[in-house]
Amino acid sequence: MHLLIPAAGSGKRMGGDRNKLLLSLREKPLLAWTLLAANAAQSIQWVGVIAQPDEWEELKAIVSDLGLNRAVHFIPGGKTRQESVHNGLNGLPDTAEQVLIHDGARCLVSPALIDRCASAVHQYPGLIAAIPVKDTIKQVLPNTRQIQHTPDRQFLWAAQTPQGFDVTTLRKCHEEARRQRWAVTDDAALFEKCGLPVQIVEGEETNLKVTTPVDLAIADFILQQRHASNV
Ligand code: CTP
Ligand code: MG
Repeated sequence: MHLLIPAAGSGKRMGGDRNKLLLSLREKPLLAWTLLAANAAQSIQWVGVIAQPDEWEELKAIVSDLGLNRAVHFIPGGKTRQESVHNGLNGLPDTAEQVLIHDGARCLVSPALIDRCASAVHQYPGLIAAIPVKDTIKQVLPNTRQIQHTPDRQFLWAAQTPQGFDVTTLRKCHEEARRQRWAVTDDAALFEKCGLPVQIVEGEETNLKVTTPVDLAIADFILQQRHASNV
C-alpha cells in the first residue's frame, strides 16, 4: 500500500512561528511519531511526505535519524491541504492502485488502524477512519451566532485520517474539483461531491489531530501513558 502524508501546513492555530509538525513532542519532532507509526504498519510499502521544499532539509534529517525500514519520498506541498494532496497524487509511482492519505498532524495513529484501512480499501474504493461525535453539534449562522439546526447526534461521526481511495478515481475527483473550484478540507468530501460512496472504518479516540497547544499537551500525555505501559 502507498501512503501519502500531508505535512505542508503552517500550523496557524498552534500559534507558533513554524510548522507545528516540527515542534518537539516527547523529545522527537511531532512528525517523527507519525512516521514511526507508518513504519510499524505492515501494510505500507511506500511512503511519501508532502512538505514545503524549504523544510525538506530539516525533514530529511528527521527521517534519517529515525532509521526507518523504507525510504521516504518527498513531494512539494501546495497552498492548501487540497492542493498538497493533489501534488501528492501526482507524485505517486505509476503502479499505485490504491492510496492511504494520513495527516502528519495525527501523530498518535496506531499502526493497526493504518493496517485496517489498508485492508478495507480493497473492498471500499473510498473510506475514512471516523469516530462517533461526543458533543452535541450545532449548525450556526456565522454573523448572528444564532443556532439554525441541531443535527441528530446518532448520525454524526468525526472524520479522521487515514482516508483510503482508489487512485484513478481520487485523481478524477481532484481534477473535477479544480474545474468546479470546490474547496474542501478532506478527500472524502471530494468523493461525496462526485456522488461516490465513502465507507467509515472505526477510528480511534486517541487519533486526534494536533491542532492547538491543548492538543499538544494531550498528545504528550497519551505518549507518556503508552511509554509507561510498555516498560
Ligand atoms: N497540510 C498540507 N498542506 C497545506 C495545509 C495543510 O499538507 N497547505 C497538512 C498539515 O501539515 C497537516 C494536515 O494537512 O498535517 C491537516 O491540516 P491542519 O491540521 O489544518 O494543519 P495546518 O494547516 O498546518 O494548521 P492550521 O490550519 O492551524 O494552519
Ligand atoms: Mg489547516
